[in-house]
Amino acid sequence: MPQKIAVITSGGDVPGLNACIRAIVHASHHHGIAITGVRHGYDGLMNGELQNLDIESVHDIMQRGGTILHSARSKGFETTAGRQKAADTLKSSGIDHMIVIGGDGSLTGAGQFAAEHGLKIMGIPKTIDNDVSGTDACIGYDTAVNTAMQALDRIRDTADSHERMFVIEVMGRDSGYIAYAAGLAGAADGILIPETTTDWNSLTAVLKNRHDGRRGSLLIVVAEGDESGGAQKLGARLGQEFPDEKIGVCVLGHTQRGGAPTAADRILALRFGVAAVEALAAGRTGLMAGLIGNEIVFCPLADVKRKHLELTTEKQRLLELLL
Ligand code: F6P
Repeated sequence: MPQKIAVITSGGDVPGLNACIRAIVHASHHHGIAITGVRHGYDGLMNGELQNLDIESVHDIMQRGGTILHSARSKGFETTAGRQKAADTLKSSGIDHMIVIGGDGSLTGAGQFAAEHGLKIMGIPKTIDNDVSGTDACIGYDTAVNTAMQALDRIRDTADSHERMFVIEVMGRDSGYIAYAAGLAGAADGILIPETTTDWNSLTAVLKNRHDGRRGSLLIVVAEGDESGGAQKLGARLGQEFPDEKIGVCVLGHTQRGGAPTAADRILALRFGVAAVEALAAGRTGLMAGLIGNEIVFCPLADVKRKHLELTTEKQRLLELLL
C-alpha cells in the first residue's frame, strides 16, 4: 500500500480536472494514503513545487473549470536531464507513486518516466480533443462539445434572423471529434473534419441549393485541423462562391477549454480518479484508466497513442442523413 501519492495535471487545462483531483484526494483519504499535489505540471515537478492536499483543500472545487494545481506544457521534461530532476523531487519527498492526468503526450512521458526511474505511475486521460487511444472518452471532451453546441445554437439565432451563412471553427488539434459531435448536435449544414477530405463541389452545391431554397440560415462547422485551413480561409473561399453574402466567421477557441464541467465529465473524472487510486492501492502500476462502453478498463501507458475519429458506417450515415 502506498504511503503517499503525488498527483499532477499536465498539458492544456480542461473542465473536470478539479473533479478528478477531488476524487483522488477522497479515495486516498479512505485508504489512509496522503496526497501531494504537483503545481504547474511537469515543470513544477522538476522545480520541486509540491503542496499537500487534504479533504479541506478540495472542498468546493468540483464545479470549477481549470485546475487548482495549474498546468503547463513542459519541454524540459522531454529531456533525460529534466526527468532526472523530476525524479529527484519525488525521491527527496519520499514519494514513489504518482497519478498523471494528461493527454497522449503527457501520458507517454509518464510511461517513460516510470520505466527510467522505477516509479509506480497511473495515468488518467484528459483532453477536449478526445484523441487518446485506450478510452472512448477523455475528461473535458463532453463539456467542450456542449460549449460548442451552445455557441452554434446562439449563432443560429442571428443566422436565422438575418438569413446569413456562418463558418464556425472548433478546436480539436488534428482530430475532428468536437466538430463532428457539436456539428450534429447543433444541426449544422456542413461539418468539415481532418478525417475526411471535403469535396468542394458537392459542399458548395448543397449550400447553394439550400441558400436558393431560402432555408434561412446556414451554419458550417470546421475543425481547426481540417485541410481547408480553418474558418478564416474557408469563409474567404466561400465568399468567392457566394459574392452577395455577408459570411460570418467565428473561431470559438479557448471558450471550449473553460467553464463548469458537465455532469458527464464530472462523473467520468470521479470514476477515473477513484479507479486510479484503487489500482495503485492494489499494487497495479504503469497503466492508464480508460472508459470502453461504460466500463472502466486499463491499458499499459506504453501503448497510449494519439488517435483520430473513426468514421464508422453509422457515423457516416448520420452525416449523410442529417446534414
Ligand atoms: O489539446 C487541447 C487544445 O485546446 C487543442 O484543441 C488546441 O489545438 C490546443 O490545445 C491549443 O493549445 P494552446 O492553449 O497552447 O494554444
